Amino acid sequence: MYSEKVMDHFNNPRNVGEIENASGVGTVGNAKCGDIMRIYLDIDDEGIIRDCKFKTFGCGAAVATSSMATELVKGKSIQEAMQVTNKAVMEALDGLPPVKVHCSLLAEEAIHAALWDYAQKHGITIEGLSRPKSDIHEGEEAEEEDY
Ligand code: FES
Repeated sequence: MYSEKVMDHFNNPRNVGEIENASGVGTVGNAKCGDIMRIYLDIDDEGIIRDCKFKTFGCGAAVATSSMATELVKGKSIQEAMQVTNKAVMEALDGLPPVKVHCSLLAEEAIHAALWDYAQKHGITIEGLSRPKSDIHEGEEAEEEDY
């Protein structure tokens, strides 16, 4: 059911933890499954993500996607990090079962929420970034069949 990469990131998650005085912190949850993910970003003066850590209270797929997402955004610029969508994370993990797609959405939204926090603190606007939802399940009902 799960790819080897998913199992690997679930069993040995990368970048677990917190960053003290992080440049940006984003927390999102999905009220439907009750899972919560928090992402910490350390962004330098050049706008490069030097470090990224996560804490996930959630299912195995949520742990694996957060782990992969942190690996994908590390060393990237803010604009590059905006390209780390849930699809990119899923591809990097060699796919997820359809019922677990929403878990990868949590990772994308948590990164966006952390970038939003950073932007707010620095009074900047990040192209393509809008205020994140704290619950990714909001407005999802109509798409229920897809999950
Ligand atoms: Fe909800 Fe995985 S079951 S994040």
